[in-house]
Amino acid sequence: MKILVVGGGGREHALAWKLAQSKRVERILVSPGNGGTAIDSNFRNIPYKSPEALADFAQQEHIDLTVVGPEAPLVAGVVDVFRERGMRIFGPTKAAAQLESSKDFAKAFMHRHDIPTAAYQTFTDARQAHAYLDKMGAPIVIKADGLAAGKGVVVAMNFEEAHEAVDRMLEGNWLGNAGARVVIEEFIEGEEASFIVMVDGLHMLPLDTSQDHKRLGDGDTGPNTGGMGAYSPAPVVTPALHARIMREIILPTVRGMASEGIPYTGFLYAGVMIDKQGNPRTLEFNCRMGDPETQPIMARLKSDFTETLEHAVNGTLDQAELQWDRRTALGVVLAAHGYPEKPLAGDIITGIPRETDDYVTFHAGTKLQNGKLLTSGGRVLCVVGLADSVRVAQQRAYDAIEHIHFDGMQFRSDIGYRALPRC
Ligand code: AMP
Ligand code: GLY
Repeated sequence: MKILVVGGGGREHALAWKLAQSKRVERILVSPGNGGTAIDSNFRNIPYKSPEALADFAQQEHIDLTVVGPEAPLVAGVVDVFRERGMRIFGPTKAAAQLESSKDFAKAFMHRHDIPTAAYQTFTDARQAHAYLDKMGAPIVIKADGLAAGKGVVVAMNFEEAHEAVDRMLEGNWLGNAGARVVIEEFIEGEEASFIVMVDGLHMLPLDTSQDHKRLGDGDTGPNTGGMGAYSPAPVVTPALHARIMREIILPTVRGMASEGIPYTGFLYAGVMIDKQGNPRTLEFNCRMGDPETQPIMARLKSDFTETLEHAVNGTLDQAELQWDRRTALGVVLAAHGYPEKPLAGDIITGIPRETDDYVTFHAGTKLQNGKLLTSGGRVLCVVGLADSVRVAQQRAYDAIEHIHFDGMQFRSDIGYRALPRC
């Protein structure tokens, strides 16, 4: 089989790495890929220009199956373009990807289908938004409706921050079109988990649970990032909670999308807040796997993932089964200097240890240039340690990191701290 993986982050390196373990795979192409997929002879990197150009390429190369990592090509309609040409691709259509690309769409959808989430209202008029803030008080959460590369959510702990966020989005054009409409929602206190399932339009197959750390600094402090580390499984998601999330969030979402004539296919990621009473509520949907959650999840997956993907595109996910390494996988992100605001690129990376059964390093913002591996993005690498306990998995990841160097490298030293007392 020839497989095409779309994307160039750590998530896509981990997906490609996992798929390469399948005996049925003859070639894996990655578009655009990164330094990690460039170094490895299992893969070939292909530039990414547009959904149409990618579909032309996939036709010429006789790609059997395409799997999409990031939201941007999905929202640009890559799945629609491939399907129109009769090519097999796993991901949501542009219409279904609205669950991520429009917060207002997602909130209204959840409302229509009684899916637990924070109370909210949507505004385009700044005056009305300010009046609503005055009525609701703080803390409160202001979200740009559209995709904003992780910058679209302001968790305002006080009045000033809340009003400023509304001003910046609705009047200051801070996020352009993405912020021309805002969702203002109730602040929910609790612990977040990432709940990711594969969906074929009708059936759902949950991946094992995970949790990430979004803040830049130790102890979950500092600015929000795309994710500084993640681990799987997430002990906060007990079997009882797992059943509730499936029943109260995932099932009504998949059924609701089908009943509205927009059947959902692809990875579906529910960001779930487990509140003080232990109730799960949906903070957001993503129409893709999480990054960095994918890295520890793929490190633990034992099944042949090509078979799972075939079930997914054939509509037979009810016949698929996943086997997991019983160990914990814990991934620590190594980020570039200046991340998340203005990451610096072009630094030489050295010392990545060879993969063993105990750890593996996935590349994200790296590129291969004249035989040298250089930083080329905010999140550079994700080092995943595996062990029977969270503590030892954490130790293994941090031991491996000691060998790695690039100028300005920054990482958190406490990834997994929430899980430690639970195991
Ligand atoms: P999102 O992009 O919607 O996941 O939001 C980014 C982050 O903001 C989430 O991971 C949460 O930490 C936080 N957040 C979003 N919505 C809420 C909410 N209603 N209450 C509290 N925190 C939230
Ligand atoms: N790690 C969070 C995300 O992928 O959105």
